[in-house]
Amino acid sequence: MAHTQEYTMMNNVTSNPSQRDSIRGLPSNHQRKTALVTGASGGIGWQLAQLLAQDQYGLILIDIREKQLMEAKQQLLENWPGLQVETITADLAEKGMAEHIQQTLLDEERQVDILINNAGFGTLGFFWDTSWERESQMIHLHVLTLTHLTKLLLPGMVKRGYGKILNVASLAGFMPGPLSAVYNASKAYVLAFSEAIANEVRGKGVTVTVLCPGLTPTGFQAAVGVGDPELTANRWISTSAKEVALTGYQAMQRGRTIAIPGTINKLLVQAHRFLPRNMAARMVRWAQEKNRSFLKK
Ligand SMILES: NC(=O)c1ccc[n+]([C@@H]2O[C@H](COP(=O)([O-])OP(=O)(O)OC[C@H]3O[C@@H](n4cnc5c(N)ncnc54)[C@H](OP(=O)(O)O)[C@@H]3O)[C@@H](O)[C@H]2O)c1
Repeated sequence: MAHTQEYTMMNNVTSNPSQRDSIRGLPSNHQRKTALVTGASGGIGWQLAQLLAQDQYGLILIDIREKQLMEAKQQLLENWPGLQVETITADLAEKGMAEHIQQTLLDEERQVDILINNAGFGTLGFFWDTSWERESQMIHLHVLTLTHLTKLLLPGMVKRGYGKILNVASLAGFMPGPLSAVYNASKAYVLAFSEAIANEVRGKGVTVTVLCPGLTPTGFQAAVGVGDPELTANRWISTSAKEVALTGYQAMQRGRTIAIPGTINKLLVQAHRFLPRNMAARMVRWAQEKNRSFLKK
């Protein structure tokens, strides 16, 4: 099990935090709070880490690749000197990782006030053709680790009467996904799970938000196979990682349950409610094949 841990703590967080807090409308004690972000060195997670840094949260950043994680940390410390940043390199698709992270937090006597379950990846192709190894890793990452981390950290939040959880699902979670069957199903789980626990924690000082991005140009898109460049460049269809992160961050701070970045994405979610399920599946398949002609069979 590959794992390294870095711990950095610096003083002089801010010259006048209370003044800045009142400007941003954040709780006056927020600078003492700590946020844990998974998948923090790339795409949406990296943008979320920067938003948290801007608001002077202490950070625990987790990602699979140590080099990228260290570069992310270095960049944060250059931009926000004095920020408290810890990194944990871990493959969250491996069994037992949530317990391992909790143990690390206990060893360092760290409390998590904000949990952002963001790490994820996609696969594309006909289910009979795709890699089971990759898909089982995906189920582990999107479903098991996300649920277990939440299970381990939520009780402390409820007990303290303060906490925020932001789970990154996808627009895909609203609809069946031919050619990305396991991905869409795993994100449907994230959506339903998050909505359910958001309801359970109501009145406990804890909120759960689920962010559902649509097409977002990041390492995720590059990894599943570059799609139609026109579609990716289309500002109506595609939303930048920065915009997606900001939508999720603001929704989390406001305690909203579902956050959908982009007007077209919001319309798609509404429109799909009125479609028969098989029609939704056909539409998704059409869109997948249009975006990536190599998928056509
Ligand atoms: N981009 C989109 O169009 C889109 C749309 C809807 C939802 N989302 C969701 O948004 C979230 C963030 O994705 P993104 O678009 O920002 O992709 P990204 O740029 O690839 O960022 C994801 C980060 O998570 C890391 N990661 C992947 N597997 C991991 C593992 N097993 N353990 C620890 N870290 C791991 C990645 O590392 P590597 O780079 O080494 O893989 C990467 O740093 C994901 O949950 C994704 O499903 C994305």
